[in-house]
Amino acid sequence: MKDKVLSFFGLGYVGLTSAVCFAHKGFKVIGFDADPEKIKLINSGKPPFYEPQVENLLKEALESRFLSLTHNPAEAIEGSSITFITVGTPSNPDGSINLEQVKSASMQIGQALTKKKGYHLVVVRSTVTPGTTENIIKPIIEGYSRKKCGDTWGLCFNPEFLKEGSAVKDTFNPDRIIIGEFDKASGEMLEKLYKGFYEGEMPKTIRTTLVNAELVKYANNAFLAMKVSFINMMANLCQKLSGADVEVIAEGIGLDKRIGSLFLKAGVGWGGSCFRKDLEALLDFALKNNVELPLVEATLKINNLQPYKLIELAKELIGELNGKKISVLGLAFKPETDDMRDAVSIKIVKKLLDEGACIAVYDPKAMENAKKIFGKGVKYAESIEDCLKNSECALIVTEWEEFKNLKPQNFINLMKIPAVVDGRRIYDVESFSSKLRFAAIGLGEKKYYNPALAANAIIQKNNSILLVKRSIKPFKGLWSLPGGFIEYDETVEESLTREIEEETGLKIKPLKVIGVFSHPLRSPVKHVITICYESIIVGGELKACSESAEVKFFPIDNLPKLAFDHEKILRNYLKLKNTSCSNKKHAA
Ligand code: UGA
Repeated sequence: MKDKVLSFFGLGYVGLTSAVCFAHKGFKVIGFDADPEKIKLINSGKPPFYEPQVENLLKEALESRFLSLTHNPAEAIEGSSITFITVGTPSNPDGSINLEQVKSASMQIGQALTKKKGYHLVVVRSTVTPGTTENIIKPIIEGYSRKKCGDTWGLCFNPEFLKEGSAVKDTFNPDRIIIGEFDKASGEMLEKLYKGFYEGEMPKTIRTTLVNAELVKYANNAFLAMKVSFINMMANLCQKLSGADVEVIAEGIGLDKRIGSLFLKAGVGWGGSCFRKDLEALLDFALKNNVELPLVEATLKINNLQPYKLIELAKELIGELNGKKISVLGLAFKPETDDMRDAVSIKIVKKLLDEGACIAVYDPKAMENAKKIFGKGVKYAESIEDCLKNSECALIVTEWEEFKNLKPQNFINLMKIPAVVDGRRIYDVESFSSKLRFAAIGLGEKKYYNPALAANAIIQKNNSILLVKRSIKPFKGLWSLPGGFIEYDETVEESLTREIEEETGLKIKPLKVIGVFSHPLRSPVKHVITICYESIIVGGELKACSESAEVKFFPIDNLPKLAFDHEKILRNYLKLKNTSCSNKKHAA
């Protein structure tokens, strides 16, 4: 079958990706596109979109000459024997499908077929509503070519299931191939082509009618979108229940083989060029056939509201957003693409602007596309650090790998108020919610109101007190008492001893409790309560380690001002000391 030359009408995302994959497997491919600028760009080795591996495969295909490009449709038909229609099928303003490009490609193919000698197969790969291949495409080609379908040319509908970000991988390893055929000969020829492409590892193939194949494509996308909307619906319920977490719900139901774990990741909603377009087109098509599709309606309704859940969580965390500096991490509709079509970030940024927030945005790949959408209304950060600097709340909108690698400390170091709303569930709840203000889609409200317990030590040597200056917020640059948070599996004394050794190098022994204190700004975590111990040094060597920038003994009569409640704790201690001294004096 490799002797057959293929042509692709439409070099968008599906057309170009498929073309370079076929060329990689040793097929001769001719690419046609009505846009001469696009042809020029592709001919120079640059794909008009970002998709992993496509650029490399394109360069390889151009160098090997397995791929050639033309803006003459007749040349593409004349030089090939199988033509794939891979043009776009966007939405009309009312949601119905716009078939203009499909009609125009069919017309060009029909015209070119008049002169064509020998059998030619036309394969529709653009997503089209049921009946389109048979009732619109076939008559156009027949009309222009004046040749009956089934005589000298054949017709198939062959849906694609490529995901952006893994389109090349999906092309080489599809779950199945669906061939809708006008007649047996057409289906046979397409199946043979794929047998040549997959070389003995032919994926499961279903050969069926044109209309079934068209419907499979819509049902597939509708079901996937419905699965995500379903878990987002559950996420919204979880958010209201103390201790609930949608991640556990998804894992729990995903292990049921009848449900499966994929497409159960809750978040700020689905986006992209396909789901909304296809669901709206399906709904419109069904309506025209007097059929209601209530599950598709609900899927869209849930998704329309989902991005705003992130804003609600941000408000719960830091209050009204007016005048606040908010960082948006992630703009593309999903990772590994620069595609902003129907991205949820668009709704989120617009809503933030309406609320009067000052916004900085960052995405590893989609900044240029974002500029076309948001214009001058937002700050386009150059890096994650630039985006988070002095921010009062960070919103995770797309789950890029480099965002996943961020630790609580990165946010604490850079932000004015370290507050994170995880819209894609990429962070470990325990470690984030114990270190900074944290909220996440589908996470029960109790999680980030947990009180945190800390312990501090007052270490007096002669007439001096040991103090530390830390390098991290909220104590950054301020003098305070040594100590830290109590870990789950430690006693208070063990924890205090460990923290002080990590911070100052000194081994201490806690003697007695001076008091229990709290202060609203003492930590980014709400309700920090600290137990303060009078302690003595039993070993070690004084040095600044771990998070402390400086450790030093200060004379009691020349103490610096201390951070937050530490000032009060120390004064309290000194007062107690004086009182007990004077009591002793009295007793004496
Ligand atoms: C989708 C389908 O997955 C492909 O099979 C289909 O070929 C394609 O549409 C199309 O019709 O052309 P794509 O839009 O590239 O592919 O991306 P998906 O991976 O399906 O993701 C769509 C959206 O759902 C993204 O915004 C993603 O973040 C979101 N999503 C996905 C979730 O929120 N949770 C999940 O568990 C999965």
